[in-house]
Amino acid sequence: MTGAPADKVFGRRHGRKLRRHKSALVETLLPRLRVSLPAPLPGPGARLDPRSLFERPPAEVWLEVGFGGGEHLAWQAAAHPGIGMIGCEPFVNGVASLLSHVEVGGLANVRIHDDDARPLIDALADASVGRCFILFADPWPKVRHHRRRFVGPANLPRLARVLADGAELRLASDDPSLVSWMLEHTWRHPDFEWLARGPADWQTRPEDWPQTRYEAKAIEAGRTPVFLRFRRRARP
Ligand SMILES: C[S@@+](CC[C@H](N)C(=O)[O-])C[C@H]1O[C@@H](n2cnc3c(N)ncnc32)[C@H](O)[C@@H]1O
Repeated sequence: MTGAPADKVFGRRHGRKLRRHKSALVETLLPRLRVSLPAPLPGPGARLDPRSLFERPPAEVWLEVGFGGGEHLAWQAAAHPGIGMIGCEPFVNGVASLLSHVEVGGLANVRIHDDDARPLIDALADASVGRCFILFADPWPKVRHHRRRFVGPANLPRLARVLADGAELRLASDDPSLVSWMLEHTWRHPDFEWLARGPADWQTRPEDWPQTRYEAKAIEAGRTPVFLRFRRRARP
């Protein structure tokens, strides 16, 4: 996942050629689920209430940034039918994979922004998101690339603005350098509070947090994933 500069996505947008059915889903289902942004983006007074993007306004809207193959997002959508799930992912093969999950699971509470998450976040109203997931973001190991990391000084204020009081921000990574970086920046940000009480809290994935494809790959490769839960502090 990329954090800066403001309007460049550094990851790839296309992978292997899509099989016919997935390609058909991108043609037919994606336009029905796609969150398109108004241009120019709405100013502070006219930002989007994400609940309005769903046919039946959900109790809350949760956001996943960089959903990859969409297995986590689809699981959350199936487990919480009263929640509206918005996923952001510029990689078309990942989007096609989520569309398959939506079709197979008959999920009516999913919307997709098949692009960079940042403009979408900027278009959302203050305190309009009940939970945000950013799982196994790209680690950008080279020091000169650290500013591309999604969870950092550029995007934490964005997330703090759209998260409701008490909302959870869930982060995961198998990269020790990225884990330290995310902890350092999130800790330093006055609007976030780390919820860990002891090592078990960050060493163990909670039950309502299914494994993603990247986590499975990391474990297979002998790396150890870390699970971080933060709470957006109440506004004064
Ligand atoms: C390492 S993958 C992890 C995918 C998935 N979360 C998982 O755990 O399997 C990181 C994902 O973030 C996506 N990504 C990168 N920059 C992004 C951005 N600015 N907005 C939304 N997604 C982004 C990439 O396309 C990629 O699919």
